[in-house]
Amino acid sequence: MSLDAAHVEPMLRGSFGRPYVFVESCTSTQDLLHDSRLPEGAVAVADHQSGGRGRSGRTWEDTPGEALLLSLLLRPRPSPHLAQLALVAGHATAEAVSHATGLETALKWPNDVLLDDAKVAGILLEAHADTVVCGIGVNVLQPVARLPAGAMPAASLRTATGTSVERSALLVELLARLEDAYRSWQDDGLRQLLPALEARNWLRGRRVVAEGEHGVADTIAADGRLRVQLDAGGTLLAASGEVTLAVRAP
Ligand code: BTN
Repeated sequence: MSLDAAHVEPMLRGSFGRPYVFVESCTSTQDLLHDSRLPEGAVAVADHQSGGRGRSGRTWEDTPGEALLLSLLLRPRPSPHLAQLALVAGHATAEAVSHATGLETALKWPNDVLLDDAKVAGILLEAHADTVVCGIGVNVLQPVARLPAGAMPAASLRTATGTSVERSALLVELLARLEDAYRSWQDDGLRQLLPALEARNWLRGRRVVAEGEHGVADTIAADGRLRVQLDAGGTLLAASGEVTLAVRAP
């Protein structure tokens, strides 16, 4: 089923997704939302990106028509806590993937969405002046052979469920969940979202390297930072997304 506007717009439940732009192919959907006249909630979706971007300068590969690739324009109130949007978007994506699959999702802090310990969705936030462009890529229809290779094992909703999830239904659900989570965050910070974030906290209890220090990941703090109990003693509150799993010596 198509992701074009004629099919998707009648299914939208809130204000996210208005206006809605669909292109078959582009470099990156992140680059389609730079018009300063666009309102919060504007969304760009593509069937294929030739230059999809991931976090930390990585690329995000897709095969045409098999992934959900979207960018959402946000105009948050000025805040020292904009990094929390990573958790907000991760929460909404995890909820939408659980809804679409009937499976429990986990969140690898801050916002990789996992099914059965394998990554099915990634999120990239890019800030420009007073806007934040939230880009989300979900592996939906890829068979095992076409899953992207990366540091984490990857899965798609197809490989996890054995069925084909409809991308347009997933998109509409995701936009509704994003709007709810974002409004909650604008009104109340992370307070209402924290219990669900902690329930999905996949890193808790795992060995990690955070800001160059080795330790064991713990709970998510009220401000969204990840607590890490350091091998050297003490607790580090990790603010950046670059917490990596520690590779054990053989
Ligand atoms: C990551 O896990 O590294 C983040 C991946 C984000 C990919 C999405 S796909 C839609 C949007 N456009 C991009 O170029 N990147 C994001």
